[in-house]
Amino acid sequence: MNGEIEVKGAKNAALKAVAAALLSREKWTIANLPKIEDINRILEMIEDLGAKVKRPARFESRSESGGSDKVEIEAKNIKKSRLSDKLAGKLRASIILAGPVLARTGKVSMPYPGGCVIGKRPIDLFIAGFQKMGAKVKWQNDHFSLSAKKLKGARIFFPKITVTGTEAMMITAVLAEGETVLSNAAMEPEIPALAEFLNKCGARISGAGTPTIKIKGVRKIRGGQTKLISDRIETGTFAILGALCGGKVKMKNCNPDHIRALLVNLEKAGARFKETKNELIAWGAKKINPVNVTTHEYPGFATDLQPPFTLLMTQAQGTSQIHDPIFDGRLMFTDILNSMGANISINDPHRATVHGPTKLRGRKIASPDLRAGITLLLAGLIAKGKTIIENIYQIDRGYEHIEERLQKLGAEIKRIEK
Ligand code: EPU
Repeated sequence: MNGEIEVKGAKNAALKAVAAALLSREKWTIANLPKIEDINRILEMIEDLGAKVKRPARFESRSESGGSDKVEIEAKNIKKSRLSDKLAGKLRASIILAGPVLARTGKVSMPYPGGCVIGKRPIDLFIAGFQKMGAKVKWQNDHFSLSAKKLKGARIFFPKITVTGTEAMMITAVLAEGETVLSNAAMEPEIPALAEFLNKCGARISGAGTPTIKIKGVRKIRGGQTKLISDRIETGTFAILGALCGGKVKMKNCNPDHIRALLVNLEKAGARFKETKNELIAWGAKKINPVNVTTHEYPGFATDLQPPFTLLMTQAQGTSQIHDPIFDGRLMFTDILNSMGANISINDPHRATVHGPTKLRGRKIASPDLRAGITLLLAGLIAKGKTIIENIYQIDRGYEHIEERLQKLGAEIKRIEK
């Protein structure tokens, strides 16, 4: 692999920014929005609720790339308070829409959010937070509804650090009456980025990016323009690709600081990097050393980077231990790597031992989820022979025109069905 690859806007910042746009009756312009399926789904969901969305040409095309990455959203009127069953079932992040719809219309109902192949995805911390802010909760089979004439500020302690939970409570508290204090909040870089933009539009949020966030409720959120931060998981995935495939891979428009925990471990593994503020160059490791990692909330080693790191370890000269305590289904994809020739044993749902080095062989496989999917794609690049990956919707959920971007680095990869 040799050449340059541009890192796109952060999926997990984009989903939350689109949801937060519902807080305002005025127009929000969001730039650097990645052209991926999860964003298409959340835009469809807010349109279904009554928001007007203006997308540039080719925004939704998987076969044609290019065009602007700027989308305009205007949520003057929210006509519905029931989220589409079909769409909410496809996207775990749909729960982020509950707070803004509740704040704007006084009620919201939705199915239990979908997308749980990486393990159990409970929503108890969201429900508890909404209740603290004064919402009444009703369950009917697998649907729930929330109602509150007026949301009130509250003190919320998260017994477990939750990224979307922190963002959901922060967004909901913006239009609540009085002050909300979130403790043991998540610190992922997408959170201060969203808070900073909300503040430009009239919100009063302080402490985002630390474990304590304070939000003073305001009556109105104005329109505005924002550019999303780069996707740190894409950056990390491409850095691992650089380490795996040799050569020199330059990542443009990224923030190496956001993947520090990964870079430290990649250096231990033998990869070399050079960085500037918004670029990162990775040189492949001549010999890959085994490294043990444990995933952790930010600024620790991201769970979303565990699957490609585990793949890297299949090429290491020795045995490594991978511990992913955050979700209980994130190691299941290793079965597929084993079917390609890897030697990974699962010790329990959170722990795997990778015995390297192993030669991988290409074969026909299917992508179980987004991060496992991109990992299998990288495995296909280093495997001997041809690999066919099915269910690539799972990869298109989070990586924009991936085949085209990897072709530019020298990968032999093509989309078979458009
Ligand atoms: N949790 C609960 N109860 C809740 C909420 C979460 O027990 O009400 C638990 C989860 O089961 C998990 C832990 O808390 O064990 C942490 O989950 P978190 O809520 O932080 O995850 P999330 O917000 O649902 C986001 C990203 C994930 C990423 C995780 C961890 C989005 C849309 N998703 O999920 O990204 O893995 O944080 O960093 O922001 C991906 O992009 O592929 C992806 C899965």
